[in-house]
Parts: sequence; C-alpha cells; structure tokens
Amino acid sequence: MRNESLNPEAVPQSLTGFVPTTTAAASQHAEGTLIDKYGRHVTYIRLSITDRCDFRCTYCMAEEMTFLPRDQVLTLEECLRIASTFVGLGVTKVRVTGGEPLVRHNAVWLMEQIARLEGLKEVVITTNGSQLDRFAQPLFDAGVKRINISLDTLRAERFKEITRIGDLAKVLRGIEAAKAVGFQRIKLNAVMMRDRNDDELIDLVQFAIDKGIDISFIEEMPLGEIGHGRQSTYFSTEEAIERLQTRFTLLPSTESSGGPARYWRIPDTQSRIGFISPHSHNFCDSCNRVRITARGELYPCLGNNDAISLLPLLREHPDDNAPLKEAIMHTMGIKAKGHDFTEQMNSPQVVRFMSMTGG
Ligand code: 5AD
Ligand code: SF4
Repeated sequence: MRNESLNPEAVPQSLTGFVPTTTAAASQHAEGTLIDKYGRHVTYIRLSITDRCDFRCTYCMAEEMTFLPRDQVLTLEECLRIASTFVGLGVTKVRVTGGEPLVRHNAVWLMEQIARLEGLKEVVITTNGSQLDRFAQPLFDAGVKRINISLDTLRAERFKEITRIGDLAKVLRGIEAAKAVGFQRIKLNAVMMRDRNDDELIDLVQFAIDKGIDISFIEEMPLGEIGHGRQSTYFSTEEAIERLQTRFTLLPSTESSGGPARYWRIPDTQSRIGFISPHSHNFCDSCNRVRITARGELYPCLGNNDAISLLPLLREHPDDNAPLKEAIMHTMGIKAKGHDFTEQMNSPQVVRFMSMTGG
C-alpha cells in the first residue's frame, strides 16, 4: 500500500482546511482555557519542529524517506507563534519534538523563547541523544529542565540495526553530558520489541538505576507503514513487568507526570520505571494534549487522522492571531474520544509516522 506520509505533497484525506468564522462562535468555554467536548482540559502541546532525523529507526521511518520541502515546514518564528498562542489559551507545558529536534538549526533559540512565555510552567524536549553532547549545556541554559532521550538498546550493533544509522557511543556521551549539566530529570524512552530488545529490559533498567535517571518503556504503536507486521514484534507491558520482577522489586507508584505513563519504583533507587501502554491500557480518558506537526497540522488525537492545517492561517494573517486562536479552539470540538491501537496493529489507519507527529 502506498504510504501517504512518504509523499510530502499528500495531505491526509481527513485533513480539513479551517475557514475562520468572523465571530468567536466556536468557543463554548471560558476565555483562556481549552476544554474539549468530553471535558478534558488541554494544557500540554507537543510541537514537532522538523520531520527530519539523523536516524532511521525501523519502527518509525521507512529506509528511504522523503522529507518535506523547507517552505512547507513551520519556521521557528511560526513555531513560537503557535506555542505562544496556546500558552495564551492556558497551555502550561510545551514539548518540542521531531523528527530529531536538535538537527534543526537554532532549535535552542526556540526553546529559550518558549521558556520565557508568560504562563508557561515548563518547556521540555524529546531527543534521540545524537547531538546532546553539544547541546546539553545550551538547552539547560535556555531553561529546559527535563529531557527525554530515546534509547532502545545498550548494544552498539543492535543500536545500528534498530536506528539504521545511529552511533550508540555518541548517544551515551550525550546522556553523560545531560547528567553533567544537572537537568532536574532525565528520562530514557525505550520502545519494546519482541526478539529485538526484549532480552535487554533488565539491562536497560539497571543502566537507568546506575545513572540515577528514569526510564519508560513504550509499547510499539502502529503509526505509518513500515513494511513488517507489527504483531510479530509487539511486546506488552504486562510481560515486561513480569520479566523485570524476576530481578527487581517493583512497587506501584501513584506518581504521574500528567501523561499516559504508569510508574513503578524500585526500593533504594532514584529511578522511576514507567510504562506507556497504548494497547493494554487505554489512556484516552485523561488525555490533556494535542500535537502539532512540523508542517503546522494540529492533530487533536495521536490515533486519529482528523487535523486542521494552521500553516495557511499563520501565513495569510501574519499580524493577526485571532484566526489561529479560533482554529485552535475549534479543534476542541473535534478531539476524538479515544482510539484503539490494538485493532490497528497490522493495518495502520493512521498513515503518518511518529516523526511527523512527534510521539
Ligand atoms: N511506537 C512507539 N514509539 C515510537 N517512537 C517512534 N515511533 C514509535 C512507534 N511506532 C518513539 C521513539 C521515541 C518517542 C518520541 O517515540 O522511540 O522514544
Ligand atoms: Fe528519529 Fe526518533 Fe524516529 Fe528514531 S524514532 S527515526 S530517532 S524520530
């Protein structure tokens, strides 16, 4: 099946153009808040600032990717305008993602500008760690307090297989650099895959404990067509917990980062062990976030193709944020109640890759 997300010209069928009305009729809620029709309060945005990446992880990208032409990607100023408009509507947390956000020139400038927005509590970043040995300090200085680093394996050869290009040693140096600058929290994200890294779950947890950092394990999500049925690599949270319990004492924790992860603690360690389980634990009821792609599409739900394109609104109204604001409020009315990834496992209905929507 042809994959639309491989073709940057293609727009998902359900991607609707938004024509702003002249009145603010779309808003049914208090000024300065975003509440969807199921009563969920949106306080968190994930903003992808590039679809490009210096890795080609097998679960995320096809080997040959066509990336977007530059003029179809949000400028950093446009990213800031979007972030600032959301913060004006009550959003308190912005996560900058990609692709790999740190391959974008001046990404740190953007982080710094976002960190200064009044009303924002935190700006955070998800990175593959490849550039962190250079950027840990500038990110910290820009006001980033927490950082998520993707790491699926501690074995160099395997790392190369999974990422197709990545160099494990460089990422490990990046993790060290992040530790050294003193981020409040560093969290590793590991996608669990049967027969690819499931034999390393214990080692990965031990690594996190040794470094005094957190780790979350993620069930693979069916995003984008990648050429293998994902059923064969699917590895559940339940099985991972069983496996970890053969080595560690896991105590359930009520801690929450406001997101889908459920946490466990290991006595006498600093580390929190999280599980993001879109299959075995549907987290839609407490969803507090929306996503913006590098080409300015606002996706209210990760598992659903409904989106609104913000780019024309930004470019047609360079000095007026009202249409942008109205479009954002409008999406509160179309945010899906939920999604079911388990049903989609071998035939993804969501055609975009994680590198488009930013995880
Ligand atoms: N399923 C689960 N996680 C994914 N990621 C990328 N693609 C997928 C997928 N299909 C992860 C990356 C990174 C985070 C941003 O999303 O490994 O940790
Ligand atoms: Fe790049 Fe992250 Fe996708 Fe890997 S998972 S290819 S690091 S965006």
